[in-house]
Amino acid sequence: MKKALITGINGQDGSYLTELLLQKKYEVHGILKRNSVAENQTSRLEYAYEEIKDNLYYADMTDMASLTRVLQEVQPDEIYHLAAQSHVRISFDQPIYTAQTVAIGTMNLLEAIRLICPKAKMYQASSSEMFGNNVDGDGFQRETTPMNPVSPYGCAKVFGYNLVRNYRNSYGLFLSNGILFNHESPRRGTNFVTNKVVKEAVKIKQGLSDRLELGNLNASRDWGHAKDYVRCMWLMLQHDKPDDFVCSTGVSHTVKDLVEYVFGKLDLNWKDYVVKNEKYYRPEELDVLKGDSSKARKELGWKPLITFEGMLDQMITYWTGTYWD
Ligand code: GDD
Repeated sequence: MKKALITGINGQDGSYLTELLLQKKYEVHGILKRNSVAENQTSRLEYAYEEIKDNLYYADMTDMASLTRVLQEVQPDEIYHLAAQSHVRISFDQPIYTAQTVAIGTMNLLEAIRLICPKAKMYQASSSEMFGNNVDGDGFQRETTPMNPVSPYGCAKVFGYNLVRNYRNSYGLFLSNGILFNHESPRRGTNFVTNKVVKEAVKIKQGLSDRLELGNLNASRDWGHAKDYVRCMWLMLQHDKPDDFVCSTGVSHTVKDLVEYVFGKLDLNWKDYVVKNEKYYRPEELDVLKGDSSKARKELGWKPLITFEGMLDQMITYWTGTYWD
């Protein structure tokens, strides 16, 4: 039985990945950051909780002693590093905390792996936010596109990405970067734009609200489903060698497209409800993300199965009912 350790196990991706690995008969362990509301720590792990409840550890990416203790105890075969302060807008409000968790946190983990379990394979959650506004001539970003981050979060992710490559080359460790484009689901935090729009539109439909405040409607993103993307993470660690892979759908939509689709599905005219609020703009905007995932499709045999519309329909069903998948 293979042992996997997931940092950020209670996040959107951590919860889907846990379910995938349990299906594949892994023994799954996970790191939790302490939260004052205990229920919030495991709310996304509902489906897996009974199987993993004894394998959850309090630790923090900024506390290397805690990481060392967990690695020593678990001795994992595979490590999926998903924990982060992952909100781009908030990284402007909390830049140092973001750098400490995202950049130095990754360094803490890499050092701990090097010293304690150098045979373990590690997946690093790198991000399309690292490209910033750099786009290749054909309108796509790919593994070779130069990085030009435009947020403290993006800068910190570039540090982690480079360090993973550096440790891989220097110490011969099996470390792979997944450069994941935006990925969503009903489990997405409701301060990210997809779930915010769906949740608020449903409230408007139900007569519980009459406005939705948003920032930049012209930004374009390549939105996939988290369930598809965790499968790609796993495939990266089953590959014969460590490497870096873009994971994306290759289809891009604007925030306005997203709003139009969701309100349209609920028979509402978005223009009657959506208002702009400067608070939701970023000091430097990232305009367009569209990923070319040919490498992952060719070398890992991966492809996304859920469309943008299919994913939004699932999120609408979740917020209108009790669906949770
Ligand atoms: N969150 C939010 N809230 N975003 C808004 C809003 C709003 O009210 N209004 C417009 N937007 C725009 C943002 O400016 C951005 O262009 C786009 O919607 C998507 O924002 P988010 O959903 O917050 O995601 P993100 O693209 O900034 O970052 C996500 O994707 C990255 C991968 O590209 C996060 O998941 C990151 O952790 C991830 O690395």
